[in-house]
Amino acid sequence: MLQVRVKPGIEDRIRGFFPWIYRPEIASLSRKPKKGELVVIRDFGGRFLGYGYINPEVSIAIRILSFDKNQPITPDLIKNRIQEAYNYRKQLYINSNAFRLVHSEGDLLPGLIVDVYDEYAVVEFTTYGMNLFRETVISSLVDILKPKGIYEKANLTACKIEGVEVSEGVVYGKVPEEIVIWEHDMYYYINIPHGQKTGFFLDQRNSRRFVRNLVEPGSRCLDVFCHTGGFALNMKKMGANEVIAVDLSDLALDMGRRNEQLNNLSGIKWVNANAFDFLKEMDRKGEKFDVVVIDPPSFAKNRHALPNALRGYKELCVRGLKITKSGGYLAVFSCSFHVTEQHLFEVMTQASYDVKRQVRVIAKTFQDKDHPWILQMPNTLYLKGIWVEVI
Ligand SMILES: C[S@@+](CC[C@H](N)C(=O)[O-])C[C@H]1O[C@@H](n2cnc3c(N)ncnc32)[C@H](O)[C@@H]1O
Repeated sequence: MLQVRVKPGIEDRIRGFFPWIYRPEIASLSRKPKKGELVVIRDFGGRFLGYGYINPEVSIAIRILSFDKNQPITPDLIKNRIQEAYNYRKQLYINSNAFRLVHSEGDLLPGLIVDVYDEYAVVEFTTYGMNLFRETVISSLVDILKPKGIYEKANLTACKIEGVEVSEGVVYGKVPEEIVIWEHDMYYYINIPHGQKTGFFLDQRNSRRFVRNLVEPGSRCLDVFCHTGGFALNMKKMGANEVIAVDLSDLALDMGRRNEQLNNLSGIKWVNANAFDFLKEMDRKGEKFDVVVIDPPSFAKNRHALPNALRGYKELCVRGLKITKSGGYLAVFSCSFHVTEQHLFEVMTQASYDVKRQVRVIAKTFQDKDHPWILQMPNTLYLKGIWVEVI
């Protein structure tokens, strides 16, 4: 197997279970590597550190799957990891028939995402190395889940950065255009082929539940960047008098309307608008809400986009604070890998100062527990939300 030695000083981080090696950290290779090839990683003196796969064309050149000399990367290792991920989900008692089964590094399977929607699975290969295991992954999912169908979603990062020739479509059995899943006591339509991400924002499950604690019968509520209405539906379910749900996607809004009927609810106002313009307009008109949830898409796709992203989050905090009643609640989320919890707190602090509204933090929420994160990579805690009471 191809042997890689890392530069002196890198070994401690790897022994501390950090699973990435950047291209400039490689000291030598036993020969020219092929893209996606398996490698043995050694320290500068030749001592074993781990097994991984390499893509010499990208900045994160090596991703490590095993730190154990006796556990080389084989199809069996991949299958066992998927089985372990499944066993872990089963004991989480997720109150839904839709969950993330494999969360890349969080399940020691870098480059692999698998979401399960009832009897169907959706798979994404985000690295060249993992894509080479696609047959093993798909046959393992068939054995473990016994699904009716598996759909592969194209991942743009994989395509653009890793050079994977992504394909999209059914890779096993049959997958209908639309299915219905349940989460807590609510039902949602999922459109796997045309929906965003793999079809649903599974990571917000716990926050969609949490918002119920804040809604009183008769409240006036706002769900900004609502997608198919995750927060709006829960607000209405708790007896909110008025709920406005805003998104730019017609498909998401249409599914939101149908989700409302599916759950025997009515009266949500579904608005197709740019969230920034909509919030500005609400402020200009002096509108006020009891509960405001702002859950935007990622603004920082890479490190360089961070300053602009922080300006975007600050603007959302400012606008949110201005339209929340005294004694009301505002939640702002970031799902940007590069925006930390601390960044989010700082922009909320600055916004509170700017608009002269005092806030009290009532909760922090994160991606739900089927999206495990690893301690050595704080960024894998990518979804964070701050919930404040506006005094
Ligand atoms: C993170 S998702 C929201 C998930 C949602 N809260 C849920 O629980 O399912 C972000 C949403 O923002 C929408 N979006 C993106 N840019 C937008 C914009 N400028 N204005 C309004 N909506 C936007 C996307 O269509 C997507 O539905």
